[in-house]
Amino acid sequence: MERTFIAIKPDGVQRNLVGDIISRFEKKGFTLVGLKLLNVSRELAEQHYDVHKEKPFFKGLVEFITSGPVVAMVWEGDGVVASARKIIGVTNPLTAEPGTIRGDFGISIGRNIIHGSDAVETAQREISLWFKEEELASWKSSL
Ligand code: CMP
Repeated sequence: MERTFIAIKPDGVQRNLVGDIISRFEKKGFTLVGLKLLNVSRELAEQHYDVHKEKPFFKGLVEFITSGPVVAMVWEGDGVVASARKIIGVTNPLTAEPGTIRGDFGISIGRNIIHGSDAVETAQREISLWFKEEELASWKSSL
């Protein structure tokens, strides 16, 4: 089953958007298989954003994601990677459609509330970076 990695960034957590954001994924019908609140280490932040390491905003990006608690999640379901990207909206909240998370809650590209994996392969890499296998739940026994 397809999985994606979602992180509610420090701005989303501090603005009390955690419940609303989780609710959107639940109501859509996806299955939550991983969830934790953590302070992100510099090492994890740099690994997570490795693809952006040459960008001028990289330093600020790492500083921001390590600045306060982050809610890290793994969601499961058919087509969840692409669907989550639609629920989240485009990177810049100013151009994100109303009805999307970024479109509803943000105005700054550097404070865009939430991260979602951009492809299935990226999701696999990000999930294994943020979660140990034993931190991911199985729903089989509880159904
Ligand atoms: P995210 O989905 O977490 O992936 C990379 C992040 O880099 C992105 O969300 C934005 O928060 C950030 N980002 C992308 N472009 C810029 C930019 N031009 N200036 C500042 N931050 C950016």
